[in-house]
Amino acid sequence: MKKIWIINGPNLNLLGKRQPEIYGYKSFETFFGELKELFPQIELYYFQSNHEGAIIDHLQTIGFGQSDGLVFNPAAYTHTSIAIGDCLAAIQLPCVEVHISDIYQRETFRHHSYIKPYCVDSIVGKGLDGYKMAVEKLLPLIL
Ligand code: DQA
Repeated sequence: MKKIWIINGPNLNLLGKRQPEIYGYKSFETFFGELKELFPQIELYYFQSNHEGAIIDHLQTIGFGQSDGLVFNPAAYTHTSIAIGDCLAAIQLPCVEVHISDIYQRETFRHHSYIKPYCVDSIVGKGLDGYKMAVEKLLPLIL
């Protein structure tokens, strides 16, 4: 069965508690259970870290044959991490960028994404539904 990894960056472990007016009231663990039920035809895996290097290590681990697609919300590292952008360029796993909020309607420092050039698509401002839309985008590419 094809595998898709969902990777979340810093502070997204706090979903449900963190600024719920922006990020909602649901924890990612609860949402992830629902997501897996929606896509029984693929294996979905989840990784979250608050550490840039740990995210890069994980991308390198799955990026050479251990995954078929990637749904990636690097959170604040989106706007700062050349290293994560370089890593995505290196692994060439089809990746859909997701942001729960619409980064283009927020502070200007959130408008630039270092990962967007290496992604097949970018979904912003759709809440947690954005992850579901991202999996749907990947399916025709990998199945
Ligand atoms: C975010 C947007 C980022 O600007 C922010 O740093 C996050 C979450 C989002 O999902 O909307 O932590 O990636």
